[in-house]
Amino acid sequence: MFLSHVLQLDIMEKVANRRRLVVWVIMMINLSLFLSACSDGTPARKLLKHTDSSNTHVRLQLSDSLVVIDNELVEVTIQNPTGHLIGLKYKEMQNVLESRNHNHNKGYWDIVWDEDAYDKLETEHVDVITQTDDLVELSFTKKWNHGKTLPLNIQKRFIVRRGIPGVYMYGVFDREEDFPGAQMYQIRIAFKLKEDKFRFVAVSDMIQRIMPRSEDRDEHRSKTLDFKEAVVLTNPSNPSLKGEVDDKYQYSTENKDNKLHGWISDDDGVGFWIITPSNEFRTGGPHKQDLTSHVGPTALSMFVSTHYTGTEIDTFYKQGEAWKKVFGPVLIYLNSAPSNDDHRNILWNDAKRQLSDEIESWPYNFTGSEDFPHSEQRGQVNGQLLVQDRYMVRPLMQAKSAFVGLAAHGDAGSWQTEGKGYQFWTQTDNIGHFSIKNVRPGNYSFYAWVPGFIGDYKLDLNIIIHPGNKIELGTLIYDPPRNGPTLWEIGVPDRSAAEFFIPEPYPQFMNSITKDDTDKFRQYGLWDRYSDIYREGDLVYTVGTSNYSRDWFFAHVPRKTGNNTNRPTTWQIKYNLQDVNENGTYTLQLALAAASFAEVQVRFNDPNAVRPYFTTKRIGNDNAVARHGIHGLLPIKDRLHRMGVPTYGLCVNCNLYQETRDHLFFNCSMALNLKGKVLTTILKISWNAFIYYLWHERNQRIFRGRFRAVDAILKDVIDTVGIRLRDKAINKLDIINFNLCNA
Ligand SMILES: *[C@@H]1O[C@H](CO)[C@@H](O)[C@H](O)[C@H]1NC(C)=O
Ligand SMILES: *[C@@H]1O[C@H](CO)[C@@H](O)[C@H](O)[C@H]1NC(C)=O
Ligand SMILES: *[C@@H]1O[C@H](CO)[C@@H](O)[C@H](O)[C@H]1NC(C)=O
Ligand SMILES: *[C@@H]1O[C@H](CO)[C@@H](O)[C@H](O)[C@H]1NC(C)=O
Ligand SMILES: *[C@@H]1O[C@H](CO)[C@@H](O)[C@H](O)[C@H]1NC(C)=O
Ligand SMILES: *[C@@H]1O[C@H](CO)[C@@H](O)[C@H](O)[C@H]1NC(C)=O
Repeated sequence: MFLSHVLQLDIMEKVANRRRLVVWVIMMINLSLFLSACSDGTPARKLLKHTDSSNTHVRLQLSDSLVVIDNELVEVTIQNPTGHLIGLKYKEMQNVLESRNHNHNKGYWDIVWDEDAYDKLETEHVDVITQTDDLVELSFTKKWNHGKTLPLNIQKRFIVRRGIPGVYMYGVFDREEDFPGAQMYQIRIAFKLKEDKFRFVAVSDMIQRIMPRSEDRDEHRSKTLDFKEAVVLTNPSNPSLKGEVDDKYQYSTENKDNKLHGWISDDDGVGFWIITPSNEFRTGGPHKQDLTSHVGPTALSMFVSTHYTGTEIDTFYKQGEAWKKVFGPVLIYLNSAPSNDDHRNILWNDAKRQLSDEIESWPYNFTGSEDFPHSEQRGQVNGQLLVQDRYMVRPLMQAKSAFVGLAAHGDAGSWQTEGKGYQFWTQTDNIGHFSIKNVRPGNYSFYAWVPGFIGDYKLDLNIIIHPGNKIELGTLIYDPPRNGPTLWEIGVPDRSAAEFFIPEPYPQFMNSITKDDTDKFRQYGLWDRYSDIYREGDLVYTVGTSNYSRDWFFAHVPRKTGNNTNRPTTWQIKYNLQDVNENGTYTLQLALAAASFAEVQVRFNDPNAVRPYFTTKRIGNDNAVARHGIHGLLPIKDRLHRMGVPTYGLCVNCNLYQETRDHLFFNCSMALNLKGKVLTTILKISWNAFIYYLWHERNQRIFRGRFRAVDAILKDVIDTVGIRLRDKAINKLDIINFNLCNA
């Protein structure tokens, strides 16, 4: 005797006028490349020895319109007093930046704020902070003038050191208490490199390629695909790129991996690199994704953005709250090698070596701003994280490779939407020990998540860091939300969709960016493959028979039905239970990686039931799927209220579901009244911003052997998960994003 339970999922999304998928299953790529690769003692070092100039003094020339800093290796020219970087002279290259561009369009900071207002942070004064033979530091400043401009005091800092072919850049921005409220939702530094020179991009060991030129994206040389950022090259200047897709989002990486990227001029054997030795000043935690380098040639140092998270990331600065933050320093690093067959490797490896040096010397001890605390002014937090999951094994387990971090106070998992403070993350070792080093003084919460376990950990204690102190937290125990033994599970709770089925890209939409399976998800149009693969009917997953690596499509998407129309799809999960306790509690946990203007509906038994047992109503507002993100972020209900978007969540059947401050798990309890018997089921849906998997549990002990006529009770239990999008909102976002990102 058995019961056949079925879960169904329904999803629909619109992307740029076209309906498209949306819930998604994501993968977190283990780009272990940087740290490990950095240790290669490359021969590059010898080849690249910076001549004998390490003995050369750093020199400064100041005039009314220009400031030039020179250390013999590099000559850095900054416009006075705007603080725009306008020249980087290196080796034989008079300027690695595009000299044909306006001065405000070569190397600049910018901020997008409020309703698409845009500010290039042009400053009004320059101060020489330090001038020694070893180092010159300049500060370009502007105080807010109480006008209609961006309410922000600005310091843009530049440092050139003896022996380093490059320039360190950082920003110290602050708002005084009486400044009017403002939303500053994109903060970055952008570099526009010499277009006829820099053709080869490198973002990771695997993602390196010859890039199209910007004119190759013009109308007569390319065809725009489903959204503006993606084009297929029809007549590129370099014929070998014909037929390739170009889309800057294909080069996005997670914060934790976004440490080094840049460009190579093959003619000159010169590399231009953005080196980011720390993530402390980035927002949204280690897994937030952002842009790196893309066609232009453009290289970005992204500090704050709504990419992959939407406006959920908290970037609203209230009046009455003073705020100050240091973004950076990052190093703009230049290197060179004889242009030959191997110069790309030599340059990339040397840049990795430099990255490793920069990480080694973090936090820098040569910065002049009192707002950037040096090592002795920082603190440390140590401890060990264990996991208690008595439904898995009785003893405590050591939380191996868990992510642990400090961030502003908030709910468990709130670091994913935290956008104004500093965050400090590290990973535990094999036995759960961690040491979070170089923490700036402040008042933080401690957060963690453990691969293999659902949910988020937060320590119920304020962590107060004073200069030089070391806090021993001792042993912490994470108790993941469980309600009983697992009946079945699809996927692994590791905030990654790597284990699910990622299809091959369409041959006509390839980008040769991906040399390797780990990056396959970056290809354009994978979401459309669902309609090809599931031509005859929607996905049906049979627990016990199906294999999620083959049978669970990585993104739950709508079906293309031609004519630019799409239909929601309903996925079914079928499973058998040997026996069922009518009084037992069943819990379904569902975690989503991302959603864009989507709705998740869950139905049991009857896929056509008018009312789902559970619906999220509309969720999600950044287009993580079309941006080839393997994850994005789901909204927190609090913020939805604030944004005036209808909120989701009440169980339409029972109304027992109540909102909680914990946005990760939503519980819905209901009574199934079948053949006079009552079974209480609790649906537990979690949107843990980065995970998408299903997890059903029940208390088997209670179930077992107590009831018989189970098939009469739970036959055809069906869940439906649906996602619906509003094209209006999506379109708006696309335009915003397009404007934001194409400046
Ligand atoms: C600064 O740090 C470097 C290594 O990162 C070290 O060699 C140097 O002695 C330090 N300088 C000072 C003044 O502490
Ligand atoms: C730390 O922050 C919490 C939450 O805002 C606050 O209650 C507490 O007083 C703060 N502690 C210190 C020492 O500032
Ligand atoms: C599931 O499929 C993958 C990929 O085909 C395979 O490597 C794995 O062994 C399969 N797992 C099981 C349990 O059959
Ligand atoms: C496409 O549009 C035509 C005309 O509106 C309609 O008759 C046809 O049914 C549509 N096809 C599909 C697959 O929706
Ligand atoms: C189930 O609940 C009913 C009604 O409350 C009760 O009479 C029955 O004894 C319960 N059965 C079990 C096995 O607990
Ligand atoms: C939802 O479930 C979580 C985890 O089991 C629990 O902590 C929380 O209290 C529940 N909330 C409600 C409103 O039932």
